[in-house]
Amino acid sequence: MYVCLCYGVTDREIREAAEGGVSSMRQLGKELGVGRQCGRCACTAREILKEYRTPDYLALADMLAQPA
Ligand code: FES
Repeated sequence: MYVCLCYGVTDREIREAAEGGVSSMRQLGKELGVGRQCGRCACTAREILKEYRTPDYLALADMLAQPA
């Protein structure tokens, strides 16, 4: 699915960028152009990036919940 129509960027490309280490909208804008023109794609792109950050927080929460 196209997320950014201005630059023709799909959700798959955003996911690939996230897997490659992109973790912020600023980085995503530099890499793919997402959000750099009209900005309508920013909310959706941010949600996709969040999917890749959440497991880290969950893993950290699990680590903190473990008895020492
Ligand atoms: S849709 Fe992404 S900048 Fe316009």
